Amino acid sequence: MNRAFNPFYTVSYKSENYFCDRKSELKRLSSNANNGINTTLISARKYGKSALIYRLFEELNKQKEWICIYIDIYSTQNIKELTELLAVSAIKKFPEKQSIGKRFMQFFKSLHPVLSYDALTGQPEVRFEFTQARDYERTLGAILHFLEEQKAPILLAFDEFQQVAMYPEKNTEAILRTIIQTLHNVQFIFSGSNQHLMIEIFNSAKRPFFSSTQSLVLSEIPADLYSEFIRRHFVENKRTIDTETIDFILEWTCNHTYYTQFVCNKLYASNLRNPDLIETKLICSQILEAEKSTFLQYRNLLTDYQWQLLIAIAKEKKVFQPQSKNFIQKHKLGGASTVKKAVDSLVVKEMLLVHIEKDLSYYRIYDVFLMRWLQTTY
Ligand SMILES: Nc1ncnc2c1ncn2[C@@H]1O[C@H](COP(=O)(O)OP(=O)(O)OP(=O)(O)O)[C@@H](O)[C@H]1O
Ligand SMILES: [Mg+2]
Repeated sequence: MNRAFNPFYTVSYKSENYFCDRKSELKRLSSNANNGINTTLISARKYGKSALIYRLFEELNKQKEWICIYIDIYSTQNIKELTELLAVSAIKKFPEKQSIGKRFMQFFKSLHPVLSYDALTGQPEVRFEFTQARDYERTLGAILHFLEEQKAPILLAFDEFQQVAMYPEKNTEAILRTIIQTLHNVQFIFSGSNQHLMIEIFNSAKRPFFSSTQSLVLSEIPADLYSEFIRRHFVENKRTIDTETIDFILEWTCNHTYYTQFVCNKLYASNLRNPDLIETKLICSQILEAEKSTFLQYRNLLTDYQWQLLIAIAKEKKVFQPQSKNFIQKHKLGGASTVKKAVDSLVVKEMLLVHIEKDLSYYRIYDVFLMRWLQTTY
């Protein structure tokens, strides 16, 4: 079957029709942008932050002439690369045939860039060859001030923003905060999946961004809305899927957006016109089988003890108190301090997720498919 027709996307964002819910989050983001409030968008990986940003852009473009710019800074290592990425994003956003593009290019040349175009893709590439770190700060500020001077309001979304905490220039947050404070026409979304670092950057009184944004934490899409979304896409494509099967998919994938999308995608791709529970479970086993070698590689990267702890947590699905006597004795895990050390290390490695549900936090396996594989294999 032609993959383009599969209504369950597992990468990027397609359009509103293939995007489930997030109505209240969208309203908040849109209201913040329209009212001069910058937002911090936080969730564990693969809940749908990036897709939500694209969905917001689509919505804002309907409302008025917003200029929306998306910058994923995950691959940047320092302030030089951040400045270059911002410059490239602006060049792509303002093609030279438009008047704003002409103005940008005129301004941009005054920054003394080395501008080239990739021979194969035709995409612009920018390098700044300054010797002083201050020149990068100045250039970053100049580009943002160029945006500030435009008639249309600008929304700049920095995705994977926690990356700035890894830069060797420890003052990057302070530099950005100082520039951002002077802007009124440019609104920001700072999105990130490393919850610990994001909270540290925005909620620690010692850091420059403290209390300067409103946080929005993205969690699961409500089951009833996701269920309706899945059913609709089957029905619209002249297929059916029963409630029991949808409920199983949502439970099996813990409503974690990417994993739910992935199972639905595979089920749809199987070409079954009316997939039932047994057929769906078979597809799920096939997904685990295909991932098996990756799971076994995880095992090689962990100590035996960490692996046993992962198995124990997978079997429980949610563990509220891994240091409790009950949990430790049931799974023969030794001392509470050893458990704590291993849990902390697995959280840092993003093998375990600290999940907050109704003000209670618990640990679960980060990768839902790994959890299901551990549950069935051990
Ligand atoms: N509301 C939604 N409805 C349907 N599919 C969605 C929705 N949100 C996200 N998705 C899909 O789920 C997948 C993961 O979403 P996305 O990449 O936006 O997550 P993320 O939180 O940005 O992840 P990461 O932290 O890894 O960057 C994507 O394929 C996306 O298309
Ligand atoms: Mg993302």
